Amino acid sequence: MGRATKVVLAYSGGVDTSVCIPYLKQEWGVKEVITLAADLGQGDELGPIQEKALKAGASESLVVDAKEEFITDYAFPAIQANALYENRYPLSTSLARPLIAKLLVEAAAKYGADAIAHGCTGKGNDQVRFDVSTTALNPQLKILAPAREWGFSREQTIEYGERFGIPAPVTKKYPYSIDRNLLGRSIEAGPLEDPMTEPPEEIYLMTKAIGDTPDTPEYVEIGFVKGIPTTINSETLAPVALVSKLNEIVGNHGFGRIDMIENRLVGIKSREIYEVPGLLVLIQAHWDLESLTLTADVTQYKRGIEETYSKLVYNGLWYSPLKAAIDAFIQQTQERVTGTVRVKLFKGTATIVGRQSENSLYSSDLATYGEEDRFDHKAAEGFIYVWGLPTRVWSEKMKG
Ligand code: ARG
Repeated sequence: MGRATKVVLAYSGGVDTSVCIPYLKQEWGVKEVITLAADLGQGDELGPIQEKALKAGASESLVVDAKEEFITDYAFPAIQANALYENRYPLSTSLARPLIAKLLVEAAAKYGADAIAHGCTGKGNDQVRFDVSTTALNPQLKILAPAREWGFSREQTIEYGERFGIPAPVTKKYPYSIDRNLLGRSIEAGPLEDPMTEPPEEIYLMTKAIGDTPDTPEYVEIGFVKGIPTTINSETLAPVALVSKLNEIVGNHGFGRIDMIENRLVGIKSREIYEVPGLLVLIQAHWDLESLTLTADVTQYKRGIEETYSKLVYNGLWYSPLKAAIDAFIQQTQERVTGTVRVKLFKGTATIVGRQSENSLYSSDLATYGEEDRFDHKAAEGFIYVWGLPTRVWSEKMKG
């Protein structure tokens, strides 16, 4: 067909992306397939992944450790934006896609490829994120998505793979579709497709069931500098270590599970389970520190911006002019978001129980009901007269 000559394929080691290798070569006439697996902390062994790719016919199998970049350039800005899609999902999967696209585009340049490829189907958000991110970074590149076109059932995919020496998955019966990285796990399909079915305990790996969590609360203090988390219990940690450690501490208390029906960009409602212990606590703690350090108007205005930001990221527009403009706004607001937040973890809850900052705008002299009060109570009367004046005029008109 001659769609492309040399392709860099986003590779996970799973059956679908493995089958893409022979499929691209046999059906679409691609001469050379280079696979790229991004290590984003998914915990898989990446050595066997390389071997798998080569056995399936890849000419080269790249593994890129992108954990640090993932946390620093993608997760931390999202935390500064308190990003929650539909007020709940902290975008743990969504944030990985623009980074993987960037790695694909860079590899394509380095190896002289004329296309990138991925194994996404036509029903999800991830295809949109890969395609639009790739287009934004290099509009010359072709984008191949075999699984969007081949029309194979699960069984047919496995069968096609077997013809080219790709072994059928050992756990053929495991019904879930899972995406995992350092930020969390996204779980869908199988019994979860019934929105009324409670998620079985077996799907969770990062968060304990309440019955198994400690019987005493644990306190954890998270330190931020300009909106970036830098310390846990006063210990300075590098980004990847900080997120990993927090996942463990928080997951141990069973906090960080989300069960939601979510609106995909492609118009489908889907039932999705997330476990995102560290990320969710970081967003809550960051949000709280902002309440101490930002003025009322910035705090309130930022809420709307955050909602737009979350939608942009979910909908694949990480590399876009609006996103860049919003980034500039958010960065400006983070200048003084420095301080410490204390979180109490207990039986599936994470409760913010304290916060402090050298930039605190909280004034006890103004807030107190005690003797130190320096708020001018009499001034309130004149203020309320002016503030209520339009309402008074309106009321008199209506009544009279
Ligand atoms: N629905 C989520 C998103 O669009 C996660 C999808 C991840 N894939 C999965 N197999 N659960 O970001």
